[in-house]
Amino acid sequence: MRVEPAAALVGDLEVPGDKSISHRVLLVGALAEGTTVARGFGASADTLATAAAVRALGAAVELNGETALIEGAGLDGLVDPDGPIDCANAGTLLRLLAGILAGQEGRRYELTGDPSLSRRPLERVAEPLRAMGATVTTDDGHAPLAIEGARLRAITYELPVASAQVKSAILLAGLQAADGPTTVVERTPTRDHTERLLEAAGARIRRSPRRAAVWPAERLRPLDLDVPGDFSSAAPFVVAATLLSGSDLRIHGVGINPTRTGFLSVLDRMGARVSLFNRRAAGGEPIADVEVAPTELVATEIRPEEVPLLVDELPLFALVAGLARGESTVTGAQELRVKESDRLESVKEVLRPLGVRIQTTEDGFRVRGVPARPRGGVSVDAHGDHRIAMLAAVAGAVSREGVEIRGAESVAVSYPEFFAVLDSLALR
Ligand code: S3P
Repeated sequence: MRVEPAAALVGDLEVPGDKSISHRVLLVGALAEGTTVARGFGASADTLATAAAVRALGAAVELNGETALIEGAGLDGLVDPDGPIDCANAGTLLRLLAGILAGQEGRRYELTGDPSLSRRPLERVAEPLRAMGATVTTDDGHAPLAIEGARLRAITYELPVASAQVKSAILLAGLQAADGPTTVVERTPTRDHTERLLEAAGARIRRSPRRAAVWPAERLRPLDLDVPGDFSSAAPFVVAATLLSGSDLRIHGVGINPTRTGFLSVLDRMGARVSLFNRRAAGGEPIADVEVAPTELVATEIRPEEVPLLVDELPLFALVAGLARGESTVTGAQELRVKESDRLESVKEVLRPLGVRIQTTEDGFRVRGVPARPRGGVSVDAHGDHRIAMLAAVAGAVSREGVEIRGAESVAVSYPEFFAVLDSLALR
């Protein structure tokens, strides 16, 4: 796939339904009694893997355009799948499902993934689930993951790494524990979509800053919601419109949950002109329309406590920093090394050939920005990682000579129509 330079990004768009929320709606819907209705569901390779997984466990899922209907099996109604459950590229599916299956007493499951998912760490979820009483084995810390469900006991667990996936797995297990509450304590806040959806499904949840507790549930009620647009899918367009003079872009119905929008605060510090209007609520989450006008940017520093609030936008931050005046740094982002690719290295391998002056460190990167379009005219590899493919595409659009992307099809993991939408907004 070749992305040509663009002069501006102009127009209005909506992005697909939030991927994190779409996974969770399928999983919580499968555990509920009755029909869950999710309008604006974000269908992508990742969430289709979750749909297949919950079908294999006995929940019926129907996708009608952008509406997902899930006929829940109930907390006690899951059936034995025919074989291993394939989680494909989806870390969220693998980790959250592990939490659900840990409470299925006396049953044994195997969860597998693609080569990328099979390189990602699983002990972080296996360890607390073992502490609750499940038997969990990994292949030297990786998939395949085998789980023997048990009658679980409640625990209080302090997360050693800031991870919403691990937090969510423990809370989902806690729903099925023999006693309660099961409490997760986090040093830095992470996305809280699971807590919001479990509350909407009638579970007893108690929350305070950096702490979430769940009590065992007899049953969950089905959900009926509009899934907010995915902030992480909006972010590439926000970046392109900020960097291309002449842009005038509005993205409608985007989720602005404060645990997800750290990138907006960072852009604001850099001088960007991104405004939120029509603030409202959808699916138990805050949403807004986002308007972007181009501007010149100055460098900034991202510290460890901010990282979870923009973890999936850090690759895009590297590009923004490359075009900002001054030196930008990120620290405390070692988690990027265990995402769909080693994102610290893949970001560097995409941006350096374009002319961006980036250096990686153990836990982040440093960028010496130059407020001018990078050269481009190169071929880069997406490393099988959807967020890196989108980074490369935006880099190509803001470069002088365009970029050839190898493995661009990986955008289908979260946003299958990404290139078509980018093309429809770009003025050349
Ligand atoms: C996600 C949490 C984050 C994020 C991932 C989706 C989620 O991962 O990077 O894309 O849906 O809970 P971690 O929780 O492992 O940091």
